[in-house]
Amino acid sequence: MLRFDLISIFPEYLAPLKLSLLGKAVDKGLITINIHDLRDQTMDVHHSVDDTPYGGGAGMVMSAAPWGDAIDQISNDLDQIDLIILTPAGKKFDQAMAAEFTKCKQLIFACGRYEGIDARVGKHYENKSNFKVHEVSIGDYVLGGGEVAAMVIIEATARLLPGVLGNPESLKEESHSIISSSDDLLVEYPNYTKPAVWRGLEVPEVLLSGNHGQIAKWRKEQAERRTDQLGKE
Ligand code: ADE
Repeated sequence: MLRFDLISIFPEYLAPLKLSLLGKAVDKGLITINIHDLRDQTMDVHHSVDDTPYGGGAGMVMSAAPWGDAIDQISNDLDQIDLIILTPAGKKFDQAMAAEFTKCKQLIFACGRYEGIDARVGKHYENKSNFKVHEVSIGDYVLGGGEVAAMVIIEATARLLPGVLGNPESLKEESHSIISSSDDLLVEYPNYTKPAVWRGLEVPEVLLSGNHGQIAKWRKEQAERRTDQLGKE
């Protein structure tokens, strides 16, 4: 069973993790999701978690101590713990990374805010033999914090786990996981459902033909066309 732990100063921000597919996966006992408030690790009256940057500059940096204490408290005695530090400076998240994360036992997400977390936190856990540290970005834009990024990664990862999707067949043909003969990743072909005509727009004839060979050929062509188009934008 894959265990997800998230540390944030806004635990309420992570409430959507209890809904829909992920909520059901938790109910079925396929994953656990534990949300931790970073401020629980602070002793001072203001529960402060940040300070001014050494070397000067704008903004605040999250202090190492509460992060270290929070991570220590939730790391089990596992031989392999994966610590994901969300940062726009990290490695770009993609479908292949999601597939890798499904092999993990415990994934701890450090959702930083402000100008990020003191760099020694990542360094400290990198030096521990049972930890693997991943700095991950979900795209080339800057969010207000790592919470949304963590939810993106958890949703993309959890749905690849056995039993999480109602119909596992849907994993096979979707965007970013269908493979053409040249082994390139293709995005998915367009999908249609009833009615056959909507606001004057018809469903492509071939999909109504019942000819499975022709349908498969059409879908592959469409997927290739869409993939080419993306490359040109
Ligand atoms: N924190 C702020 N921006 C981010 C991004 N693009 N990816 C991951 N974490 C972030």
